[in-house]
Amino acid sequence: MRLDRYLSEIGIGTRKNIKQYIKAGRISVNGTIAKVSDMKIDETTDSVTFDGRKLEYREYEYYMLNKPAGYVSATEDRIHKTVLELITETKRKDLFPVGRLDIDTEGLLIITNDGDMAHRLLAPGKHVDKIYTAVVTGHVTEEDIAAFENGIDIGEDGESLITEPAKLTVIGYAETLNGFGLDKDVSEQNVNNEYTKVEVTIHEGKYHQIKRMFAALGKEVVYLKRLSMGKIKLDENLAIGEYRRLNEEECL
Ligand code: URA
Repeated sequence: MRLDRYLSEIGIGTRKNIKQYIKAGRISVNGTIAKVSDMKIDETTDSVTFDGRKLEYREYEYYMLNKPAGYVSATEDRIHKTVLELITETKRKDLFPVGRLDIDTEGLLIITNDGDMAHRLLAPGKHVDKIYTAVVTGHVTEEDIAAFENGIDIGEDGESLITEPAKLTVIGYAETLNGFGLDKDVSEQNVNNEYTKVEVTIHEGKYHQIKRMFAALGKEVVYLKRLSMGKIKLDENLAIGEYRRLNEEECL
């Protein structure tokens, strides 16, 4: 790997900073001051120091992001901002979001370059629980809770697609979104003038799954936030748009 790419992936500075650091003789490789930014290093065996401090190269990176609405869960997009733009401390090119949250969904999103971890969290056979909180239009009833438990047909174009058992719990009811601390402007007809705040646990990840499950029951999701994936819980200290590295336990 080129030295400048290595330094950039570790996140010690911008390309311009890195050029300056090398020019100033602040970077050494195996004890010898590096002279050129395109020198090749072996990131697994070479010892690279910055001002005498040894740099650690991690093969895998793991972040949890408190995703804001307005960002797409993709590595590139020509129209919208991507979640990767929020991970500013590294310029690694191989990071990707583990699964997708819709553009208007907030909350826990894992970002990594570890494909095995993504598989462990997403593969259908692994049945990893994903917990969301949502605000939906109308009054969520016992029948709705039973429907989530029994499976809901979210198929389209005459095709049936039954969801696996999911858990729906009512947190509370309110007449306005303001009642739940949301000041969203929603234009849909909310005939009952009532909203329900719920918690939903699913272990699948079908496209727009929670929105489609509620839509099949005549309700619209007006706010959606993911709280956890398996044992990884959204850190309450992360404000919306903030991220942190996963700790060792969370990575297992
Ligand atoms: N279900 C949805 O409908 N949207 C999401 O972003 C996640 C789950």
